[in-house]
Amino acid sequence: MFGIEPHMIEARGLTKRYGDKTAVDHADFTVRPGRVTGFLGPNGAGKSTTMRMILGLDRPTGGHVTVNGRDYRRLRAPLREVGALLDAKAVHGGRSAYHHLLCLAQSNGIPAARVDEVIGLVGLQSVAGKPFRGFSLGMGQRLGIAAALLGDPGTLMFDEPVNGLDPEGILWIRNLMRRLADEGRTVFVSSHLMSEMALTADHLVVIGRGRILAETGVREFIDANATSHVRVRSPRLDRLAPLLAERGWRVEAGDGDGLRVFGAGPAPIGDLAAANGLALHELALVQPSLEEAFMQLTGDTVEYHAGVPGAAAPAVPPGGQPAVPPGGPPGGAPGPAVPPSQPPNPEGRP
Ligand SMILES: Nc1ncnc2c1ncn2[C@@H]1O[C@H](COP(=O)(O)OP(=O)(O)OP(=O)(O)O)[C@@H](O)[C@H]1O
Ligand SMILES: [Mg+2]
Repeated sequence: MFGIEPHMIEARGLTKRYGDKTAVDHADFTVRPGRVTGFLGPNGAGKSTTMRMILGLDRPTGGHVTVNGRDYRRLRAPLREVGALLDAKAVHGGRSAYHHLLCLAQSNGIPAARVDEVIGLVGLQSVAGKPFRGFSLGMGQRLGIAAALLGDPGTLMFDEPVNGLDPEGILWIRNLMRRLADEGRTVFVSSHLMSEMALTADHLVVIGRGRILAETGVREFIDANATSHVRVRSPRLDRLAPLLAERGWRVEAGDGDGLRVFGAGPAPIGDLAAANGLALHELALVQPSLEEAFMQLTGDTVEYHAGVPGAAAPAVPPGGQPAVPPGGPPGGAPGPAVPPSQPPNPEGRP
């Protein structure tokens, strides 16, 4: 089993410039053992550059990053301390999976028996003797993961490991990362997919345009950066909406014939409806997704926006939910009469 020293990745003032482009800008973060830390950021945010610097593949322009307290290049047996999957295609095409792993093992003083072990761990037994050039994307990812696991390292790093994988492969990688963290290892995994991180990570390091924007738990990140609301449907929205607004709760038109209420949980809303004899057809607490939280935090840090013809504004502008103007949703779509937005009431928050 991996050693007992503290398995940590620590970046301090970590900076990388390519010409006048600053890819990573004074990044400070710590990746700790026993949990899956997601490295979340849009395309071009600086995730791969940071990971390359952690592995000593790119030299920082400023600051430093250490693995287990040391510069990666000074680790005596790097594969036994850090395993990484950065580019699954970086394998000689004519070499078999088995020989690729055997070469790595031999040059790192790892017994050959471990090669069979990791091939079993990633489920490549039936194709271990076949040349890499015939491997599918998912098989290549599995081989890259086998290489990362070879030295039984305490720290593992995966750059976008689920890119291009089918649902079965995604689930497999997600479970593997969970298991590695449960074994007490440090697991650092990058993604630009908020939905994936929400399911995989316990903790987040959020990066945008090379800057660290947050280092926090997934739950805390969502709570701090996006507001939950209650979805309400009722045949008497005409009466209910003004009553909700009177309480100081913000009311917006929801999807279809419902309302979205901010500033109160389901219980006070249900009680208010009952006290006024108004039937409810739906009363549901809607938690914001990691994606919504991310959009609110990084609204202005996404470097490569897709142009959406005819779209005047993002669906969720940075800093808040789209307010519905007095008189209903824009475009004159039929919907419930909605009173002007009210400021949320912090005490009544769900
Ligand atoms: N070798 C390089 N030379 C010049 N610029 C580079 C180099 N490598 C990265 N960059 C730039 O640095 C920035 C960060 O790139 P990086 O690949 O680290 O982003 P990323 O977060 O991994 O993005 P993605 O989600 O697309 O993989 C980008 O603007 C990129 O164009
Ligand atoms: Mg990348």
